[in-house]
This record gives sequence, C-alpha cells and structure tokens, in this order.
Amino acid sequence: MLQLCIIGAGYVGLVSGACLAKLGHHVTCLDRDSARIEGLKRGIMPIYEPGLAELVAEMTKAGRLRFGIEKDDAAPDAVFLAVGTPPEEHSGAADLRFLLAAAEEIAAHAPPGLTVVTKSTVPVGTGAKLAGMFPSLRFASNPEFLREGVAIEDFLKPERIVIGTADSHAQGLLRRIYAPLTERGVPLLATGMETAELIKYASNAFLATKVAFINQIADICEAMGADVEEVARGMGLDSRIGSRFLRAGPGYGGSCFPKDTLALLHTAEAADSPPTIIRAAVEANTRRRTQMVKKITTACGGSVAGKTLAILGLAFKPKTDDMRESPAMTIIGQLLDKGAIIRAYDPQAMEQAKALLPGEVTLTASAEAAMQGADAAVIITEWEEFAALDMTQVKTWLRTPLLIDLRNLYSPAEMAAAGITYISVGRPYAK
Ligand code: NAD
Ligand code: UGA
Repeated sequence: MLQLCIIGAGYVGLVSGACLAKLGHHVTCLDRDSARIEGLKRGIMPIYEPGLAELVAEMTKAGRLRFGIEKDDAAPDAVFLAVGTPPEEHSGAADLRFLLAAAEEIAAHAPPGLTVVTKSTVPVGTGAKLAGMFPSLRFASNPEFLREGVAIEDFLKPERIVIGTADSHAQGLLRRIYAPLTERGVPLLATGMETAELIKYASNAFLATKVAFINQIADICEAMGADVEEVARGMGLDSRIGSRFLRAGPGYGGSCFPKDTLALLHTAEAADSPPTIIRAAVEANTRRRTQMVKKITTACGGSVAGKTLAILGLAFKPKTDDMRESPAMTIIGQLLDKGAIIRAYDPQAMEQAKALLPGEVTLTASAEAAMQGADAAVIITEWEEFAALDMTQVKTWLRTPLLIDLRNLYSPAEMAAAGITYISVGRPYAK
C-alpha cells in the first residue's frame, strides 16, 4: 500500500482522501485553512456529504487517514492536488492561483522525481505548464468525476478512471493506487495529459448541454401542450441518448457545470476554435433562471410585489449543503428585486444560506414554517421531504393553495384532485 498526500481538504480532496484510505493507502490531507483542519481532527466535517463523517472516522481510527496544515517529514509516493480552480471574475477562465501556489510549495520540499497528480479540474495545457515550471517533478492528470451528494459511491464505484501522463513511472504508480478498483473491473483509460484534461471538461460541458437541451424542450412542451416528462422518457429509452440528465428544471448550478463550461469557452476561444454549442448552453442556462422568475410571477397573477413566497430548497441539488451557483440564489435575488417577501428553508443548507442570502430573507426552521400564511410555495431543490408533502396540510398552511414546482415532483392530475393550483415545468396544467 502507498503513502499519499492530498493538498486541499475540500469536497474533492476530503472525499478522495477518505476513499483512497478505504482502498488501503495511507493518506495525509493537508489544507491551509487551519480551522478546517482542526475541525477535521475532531471529526467535524466542513461540508455535508452523506456517509463522509462515518468514513473519515473509520479511516482515522484505522490509522490510514491524517490531517495537517503543513507537510510533515514522511515522504509520500505521490501528492494529489485537489485545490479549487474557480472562475476568474471577468474572463471566466479557470483561476490557477491556488494550484500554482500549491505546486510551488511541493516543489520547495519535494525530492526529485516525486509524482504530482492533478485532481483539480484544470484547463488543457496546465499539466504541460506545470511540467515546464518544475522539471524535477513528474506530473500526471487524474480528473475526478464524482457528484456531490453521492460522492463516496462515485469515488469507490466509478464508471471510469482517467490517467493522463507521458511519464511511465507516474502511470505505473497511478495504476497501483487504483488497482483495488481496476481489479474489480473498473475501466482505466491511460491517455496523454492534454487528452485527460479535456475528457473532464468535455464530460461536464456535454452533461450541462444535455440539461440545457431538455430545458429548451420543456419550453416547447409548454407552448405546444406536450409533457416533458414523457418526452424525456421517450428519448431516454433510446440507448444512444440515455435517460439520465434529462430532468427539466430551473437550470444547472453547482460549483462545476457553470464554472467548467465558462472555462472551456475560454480555452476554445483562445485556441481559435469557436465553441458555439457550449456558448448556446451557457446562455440558455443563464436565461433559464429569469424565465423561472417569470413563471413564478405569472403564477402569482402578474406581480409578486408584497406577496410572501415560501422557497423550498436552497442547495443547488439535494443531499448537499453546497449553494455555489445555486439557481435558488439568482431566483431569490430577482424575486426580491420585484418586491416579493421571501421565506426560505433547506434541510441542510441553512448555515450556508445565513452567510450567502441577503438579510431580508427570513430563514425558517421547517418547510411548514416557510409556508404558514404564504401566498405560494416554490420548490427549487428536489429534496425527498419536498416530494412527500401532505397536501391536505399544505392547503391549511398556505393563504392560497398555489404550488410552483420547478422540479416536477408531483403529478398535475393528483394536485388538481387535491385542490392545489399546481404549476410545474414543461407539463400541461391540470384543471
Ligand atoms: P473546495 O473549495 O471545496 O476545496 C478546495 C480546498 O483547497 C479548500 O479547503 C482550500 O482551503 C484548499 N487550498 C487552496 N489552496 C491551498 C494550498 N495552497 N494548500 C493547501 N490547501 C489549499 O473545492 P472542491 O469543490 O473540492 O474542488 C476542487 C477541485 O476539484 C476544483 O478544480 C473542482 O473543479 C474539481 N472538482 C470538484 C468536484 C465537486 O463535486 N466539488 C467534482 C470534481 C472535480
Ligand atoms: C457534476 C458532474 O455530474 C460530476 O461528474 C463532476 O465530477 C462534477 O460536476 C464536477 O466536476 O464537479 P455535480 O455538480 O455534483 O456533478 O452535480 P450534478 O448531479 O451533475 O448536477 C449538476 C446540476 O445539473 C445541478 O444543478 C442539477 O440540478 C442539474 N441537473 C442535473 C438538472 O437540472 N437535470 C438533470 O437531469 C441533471
């Protein structure tokens, strides 16, 4: 088993560290955020991710997972870079400041020949740039494909592992690191560095485009009286299309699709290779949020001014407390501008919401408290508890029985039978 060091104990670094320990390796996770590290040493997770606290506790107890701020004397076989690569404010290009700083710190102490693996999502050419800057180190790209909310399962049962490097020692090392997974039949794709880097961006941009596409089909459904859920089912049964990522909704969000599509646009433009399809997806997704505000306003009789709206769901998707680029943030901001009074609830993201939402938003302790006396309820995130509301009670809580469901959690016919005015996405209204 190998000694591994991970720089950055965020979503990817922490999940990867705990899972690599689970595969049998000895892992040290380093982060420059001392409060985060102190918390982790006491078993306090900086993020909500199902199963993570338990796995970290198990691996720490087994002596295979440690946390620190600075590198100790132990010489690792490989160092993984898992720091953030956020978008630059004006250009949208990936900001490599954290990555370059981390690489410099490693180079300052590393023995010659140490293998440095980039797990952060980085633009094509970054690995080659690092190799040029730090010639004594070996570099490899190993993009991560985990999804928030199911991150541990995604890491331990991936659909593929991608390794990009021209260095045979680094490739051999990565094959050993992932041997417990490849021995179970997980495909491992060994490519050049640039190809591995682009596989990551192309995958995210394709999925983002798929979501933007089905949202546009939902608009056509609304205009023509068709049902997007059935259209998606009919499309998805064709194995060339596949049924996943065809859920219409308020547009994609999160820490990755928005930032990675922008970064790929930037890369393509710099390469003089016009990214027209990706640009269309990005523009459609930006418009999508305003469209959702229009949908809510229309449902409220043409104006939300002075109306109290119960917002159900703030995280960008269920099973996470991550609100980065969450559609809820933009929608709430635009509703406030139109004079709405907002009460909001999320099963996990309330701490994040306190820090991120404007002070005039009232955060409530439950969905019921958000809905009591409100003029309408708006479901933005498809948390399980929002799919299991008791409509008899909802009707007694709301001042008017108006439910705007941006995630299509209920059947329009059932809502009509329950006496709820129900507005969803890409489906005919039931009378
Ligand atoms: P994050 O913001 O949650 O975590 C990054 C961590 O790195 C922070 O804790 C920060 O303090 C630490 N850090 C920054 N510079 C450091 C340094 N020099 N030394 C030590 N620690 C340092 O970010 P994340 O969501 O985990 O994303 C990390 C990378 O992985 C990004 O490139 C992202 O695109 C990619 N990625 C993310 C996901 C995801 O689901 N979040 C999935 C796949 C890939
Ligand atoms: C995404 C990818 O799925 C991961 O493979 C990748 O590793 C990760 O980005 C990353 O690079 O960070 P994640 O952002 O956690 O994972 O979430 P997804 O489940 O992909 O959802 C992204 C967004 O698309 C969410 O806002 C979600 O609500 C939306 N979405 C997804 C839809 O609106 N409809 C769908 O059918 C699917």
